[in-house]
Amino acid sequence: MDRLVEPFAGSAAISLAAAQAGLAPSFVLGDSLAPLVGIWRSIIDDPDALCDAYRALWQAQHRDPRAHYLAVRQAFNLDAEPAALLFLLARCVKGAVRFNREGAFNQAADHRRLGVRPERLQLRVRRAHELLAGRTTLHMGDYGELLARATPRDLVYMDPPYLGVSSGRDARYHQGLDLDRFVQELHRANTRGLRFLISFDGSVGGRRFGPDLPAELGLSRVDLPAGRSSQATLVGRSERTVESLYIAPTLLSSLDSMAQKDAIGP
Ligand SMILES: C[S@@+](CC[C@H](N)C(=O)[O-])C[C@H]1O[C@@H](n2cnc3c(N)ncnc32)[C@H](O)[C@@H]1O
Repeated sequence: MDRLVEPFAGSAAISLAAAQAGLAPSFVLGDSLAPLVGIWRSIIDDPDALCDAYRALWQAQHRDPRAHYLAVRQAFNLDAEPAALLFLLARCVKGAVRFNREGAFNQAADHRRLGVRPERLQLRVRRAHELLAGRTTLHMGDYGELLARATPRDLVYMDPPYLGVSSGRDARYHQGLDLDRFVQELHRANTRGLRFLISFDGSVGGRRFGPDLPAELGLSRVDLPAGRSSQATLVGRSERTVESLYIAPTLLSSLDSMAQKDAIGP
C-alpha cells in the first residue's frame, strides 16, 4: 500500500491507529471543515504553539466556565480559530461537533467537566505529531477531490457524516451527505479499481439508521459490534450499537489473494 487516505478525516482515529501499528507508510487526511484541518496542520507543523493556545483558553475558564465557553464559541463563529475549536471540542457535550443551519457552532458545554487538562492534551498532540509528521499530506476540501486523486495502490477509508444525524430535519454536521452523489462517487471509484472501506450508519438496539448502500456497487457489508450506545445510555436505555463496514470489491479480492498466499505458504 502506498498511502492510507482518509477523505472524511475528523479526528483521524483510523490513521492514528494504523500509524501506531505500523500498517501504512504515509497518510492523506482530508476534511471540508477548515478549522479542523487547521488543527491537523498545527499538530503536524507546530504542535507546541497549538498546545500553548489551548492552555491559555483552558486556564482562562476558571473564573466563570459557562461564560467563558460561550465567549470562546462566539469568537470561534467569527474567526474559526483552530485552537478555539480544539477547546470547544474538549468542553462540549459528547465532544461532538454540531452546527446550526447558519453554519454556526452551537453545541452546548458539558457542565460536569472542564475538558482535558492541558498537560494531557500536550501528550496526545505530541504523540499524534510523532506518528504523522513528515509523512502526512493534508487536504481542506471535499472528499470527491481526494477520491479523484487516489490510486489503486492506496487504501481509502471513508467515514462520512452519518445519515441518521446529518440529513433531513436533524442536520447537525457542518455539512450533510448527499447520498446520490456519494453513490456516484463510489461507482467511479469502483471503475477506477480503488480499494476502499466505508463506515456507514448501522443499527442501535436492532433499529437500522440510514439506508443500505445499493447492491449494484458490489460492496460487501460486515456488521461490527461497537459496544453500548452512549446516546441510549444518556436517556437511560441499555442498547448495543452495530456499525456497518462496507468493503470495495477490488479490496476484497486483494484480501482474498493475500489469504490464499498465506494458506499456501512460501
Ligand atoms: C463521521 S465524521 C469522521 C470521524 C472520523 N472517522 C474520526 O476518526 O473522528 C465525518 C467528517 O466528515 C467531514 N465532512 C463532512 N462532509 C464532508 C465532505 N463533503 N468532504 C469532506 N469531509 C466532509 C466532517 O467535517 C467530519 O469531520
